[in-house]
Amino acid sequence: MRAWVVRRPGPPEALTLTEVDEPVPGDGQVVVRVRAIGLNFADCMARLGVYPNTPRPPFVPGMEVAGEVTAVGRNAGGLGVGDRVFAVPIFGGHAELVAVPTTHVAPIPADMDWDEAAGLAVTGLTADWALNVVGRVRPGERVLVTAAAGGVGTMVLQLARAQGARVLAVASTGRKRAFALELGAEAAVAYDKWAEVADQWGGLDLILDSVGGGLFRRAWRHLAGDGRYVLYGFSAASGRRRIRWLRAAGAWLAMGCMHPLSLVSGTRTLAGFNLSLVPTLAEQLHERHERLLEARRDGQLRVVIGGRYRFGELPDAHAALQGRESTGKLVVLVD
Ligand SMILES: NC(=O)c1ccc[n+]([C@@H]2O[C@H](COP(=O)([O-])OP(=O)(O)OC[C@H]3O[C@@H](n4cnc5c(N)ncnc54)[C@H](OP(=O)(O)O)[C@@H]3O)[C@@H](O)[C@H]2O)c1
Repeated sequence: MRAWVVRRPGPPEALTLTEVDEPVPGDGQVVVRVRAIGLNFADCMARLGVYPNTPRPPFVPGMEVAGEVTAVGRNAGGLGVGDRVFAVPIFGGHAELVAVPTTHVAPIPADMDWDEAAGLAVTGLTADWALNVVGRVRPGERVLVTAAAGGVGTMVLQLARAQGARVLAVASTGRKRAFALELGAEAAVAYDKWAEVADQWGGLDLILDSVGGGLFRRAWRHLAGDGRYVLYGFSAASGRRRIRWLRAAGAWLAMGCMHPLSLVSGTRTLAGFNLSLVPTLAEQLHERHERLLEARRDGQLRVVIGGRYRFGELPDAHAALQGRESTGKLVVLVD
């Protein structure tokens, strides 16, 4: 089978299309024939060698796919050959076949295409976790979202609107901001303008930030009493094709330091998470995933596909995502 292999971490050209052995399902695993790949920023970070637990090169990145089960290992639950499934292998999904633990596999509804299925799980679960588990959002709350027109951002906008929150979307271009408004943001502004709106609103109750850097320090001061700051990414550290270490160090320093007592006297919460490292996620995954499907059935949530690529063009999709050119979710279709 063919897979995109990283031999040495680096820019999108570090991905090499290679013939590799087909995977065999282990205990509690199935093998999935990949029909569509959902691209995540984490895949770019894995290619660059900076994502947590990235295997030593050579390795195949690829967090998320949709496809058909072609082989079933022992203790694979109710899954059978031919089942159409979502699958989140974390690594290995940039390939024609991938082995995935059954805890990270769920059936695709009959009315869902491969591309939509490949784009739902990671961004949807991240948005849900940020808003509901860590962020504890309530109706009417004032929520700031960075990278609002991206994969996770478009999911946050829709879920927050469905839950009656007011969203201040932050995005870098006019096109992205117009898109955020279409998806339900009350206001959409550039990175140097959000503070004016936050002041007009009288503060922020919840900040969902995947960018970090200097924005973190400024936005923290705009949190109202009982405000929650949820940090779930650090894309400010990324260059357009590589990690720019000097820039990353600058963004890291710009986040500043804070004394723990400032959380007490300000009655504010600072929280962070990486979904792939949450120890209890596997046992909650199916239930949370089912809730996303329910929201989709109710018309509250859709996968916003910002671009479709062929398997041979996968490095171009990486370049667009890391280069900040994409809106919504980029999907790679596998013939
Ligand atoms: N913790 C978790 O469990 C978890 C899970 C999934 C995703 N994430 C994080 O959530 C974020 C969004 O992921 P995604 O896959 O949906 O990607 P995405 O939002 O579709 O793409 C990344 C977006 O980040 C913004 N950005 C700001 N500074 C950037 C920079 N220096 N380089 C590149 N992009 C920059 C860009 O939007 P603007 O141009 O509008 O700024 C860009 O479009 C990422 O930071 C990712 O690591 C975290």
